[in-house]
Amino acid sequence: MTTARPDLAIDGLMAELEELAKISEAPAPVVTRVVFSEADLRARAYLKQLCHDAGLVVREDAVGNTFARWNGSDRQLTPIGTGSHIDAIPNAGKFDGCVGVLGGLEAIRVLQKLGFKPRRSIELVIFTAEEPTRFGIGCLGSRMMGGALTPEHARALRDKEGRDLEELRTRAGFAGPLESVALRPGYFHQFIELHIEQGPQLEQEGLDLGLVTHIAAPASLRITLLGEGGHAGATLMPARKDALTAAAELILALEEAARSSGAIDTVGTTGVCEVFPGAVNSIPSRVRLECDIRDIDEARRDRVIEAMRIACMNVESRRSVRIQLELVNADPPAVCDAAILDALEESAIAAGRKFKRMVSRAYHDSPFISRIAPAAMLFIPCRGGVSHRPDEYASPQWIGSGVHVLARTLSHLAS
Ligand code: GLV
Ligand code: MN
Ligand code: MN
Repeated sequence: MTTARPDLAIDGLMAELEELAKISEAPAPVVTRVVFSEADLRARAYLKQLCHDAGLVVREDAVGNTFARWNGSDRQLTPIGTGSHIDAIPNAGKFDGCVGVLGGLEAIRVLQKLGFKPRRSIELVIFTAEEPTRFGIGCLGSRMMGGALTPEHARALRDKEGRDLEELRTRAGFAGPLESVALRPGYFHQFIELHIEQGPQLEQEGLDLGLVTHIAAPASLRITLLGEGGHAGATLMPARKDALTAAAELILALEEAARSSGAIDTVGTTGVCEVFPGAVNSIPSRVRLECDIRDIDEARRDRVIEAMRIACMNVESRRSVRIQLELVNADPPAVCDAAILDALEESAIAAGRKFKRMVSRAYHDSPFISRIAPAAMLFIPCRGGVSHRPDEYASPQWIGSGVHVLARTLSHLAS
């Protein structure tokens, strides 16, 4: 095992993060990079060039998941995986996902510079569409890799403009049967995802690293309300079937169900509210809500989903609107692999970093990889716990610590 000294090129890595952030659908400092957009494709090209420059062998699957492999000396052995995503929600920052991709690449380059020769291959993965922005479901690429989304269900996915996955992936240049995306169990020997915490704990406690033991259970709902439109002046209040006021009740019902769950770990968010026709003098006839519900306890999370079903029935009968509730996904929490966590801990101690074991409240691609291989996550702090915002920030020191410990651990696991 190499000692993986902290002689990583942190300035170069920070410059690459800046360069990647410039590839955005919105002007700086905002990063918006929706999957299969022109920006996403340019960002992929940038990353692939960096991987080629590092001598990695690059391949892409039918949905655009990208694998960049540093071949080990024993090709019979399954690889050690690392990586994350580069797509970004609207109005996002520079670090979510990108730290795990460019940091993973930097970890490989550090080991190359140190003259380390891996016995197992080390494979960097750039997952397609970790964010749910385009298709309404998170972790599209890893979900398919882990067999948690069937090709049939994937083929039925559409974006808001009605374009389906087949059309969009083909236009983006990704061909081949979707059936080939699922990886066989044991494809990776082990997998580690480096990521910003997206919460405040590590910074508040003055820690360098979080070793993630569990990843919270996310679920999302799509709720469509169909009322009756009409003239905002001429339709009197008793005659109204306003889809938006009905939706407002559901938004508050979600907040109430999450707040009253009995645990601080339950969170509920209505992040999308689309109103039709969206004219000030027209009664809303149709509303689409998208709700995100999470908890570290699956049963408690499911009770919030149930509360929403009941709220939909109540509002429907009281307000004479039609309400359709669709459960888009309800994923179980993931447990990170004990042996990888021990290896991360050993590396963190050897590197003199302060760390703790913790739960991830955000979701990630790792839970889906954990369905086919042992997986774990390594968190670094982010300023003020801020994420999914343009002012998201992780310092070079924090990123350097993460990459250093990742490199050490990869070298250990690949030896
Ligand atoms: C991932 O982006 C999440 O929403 O947790
Ligand atoms: Mn994100
Ligand atoms: Mn992320």
